[in-house]
Amino acid sequence: MGTLYSITLFLHSWNRWLILIAGLIVLLSALKGLSQKSDYNGFQRKWSLVFLSSLHLQLLVGLIMYFFISPTTLLALSDFGAAMKDSTLRFWAVEHAFVNVVAIALAQTGSILVKKKTISKEKHLRTIIWTGIALVLILAMIPMGMMGVDRPWFRF
Ligand code: HEM
Repeated sequence: MGTLYSITLFLHSWNRWLILIAGLIVLLSALKGLSQKSDYNGFQRKWSLVFLSSLHLQLLVGLIMYFFISPTTLLALSDFGAAMKDSTLRFWAVEHAFVNVVAIALAQTGSILVKKKTISKEKHLRTIIWTGIALVLILAMIPMGMMGVDRPWFRF
């Protein structure tokens, strides 16, 4: 495995945990805020920023791997038609990349819409909906065997 590939794959693999933890904190604190009718606070703003920033990093590293480094996606891109007939290549070249780009766009849209609202209850609600959908999509596309593609949970 090339050095650059190892580094980017390592970063992309571990950053998934930051995304999942930050996303869960954002979701749970909005659920708590909604049920306790409390104000949208600095803690939520901070974790929402961590969530969005980790997603942006994931997108950047993912795109770099996708177009320039990963032997898997480069192979798929060299003959896209053939790759569509191979479920593993299709997972990386289409499903993983496309669904995650959509999930990141949804999380970003949600964050913009939350900022536009001034009433805390509405901020909590929007956070729950947009972050919740983004997290479900992200979880579904993590290669944990569900889509027939398995990768280590912790890459060393
Ligand atoms: C929240 C979004 C994402 C998460 C949680 C995520 C997660 C992962 C995980 C866990 C792996 C396996 C790493 C390993 O083998 O240890 C992986 C690989 C990869 N991801 Fe993502 N990813 C995301 C978004 C993206 C995006 C948007 C792209 C590209 C547009 C992308 C492209 C890739 C590529 C190219 C690989 C390596 C495939 C290979 O070389 O076999 N990822 N991703």
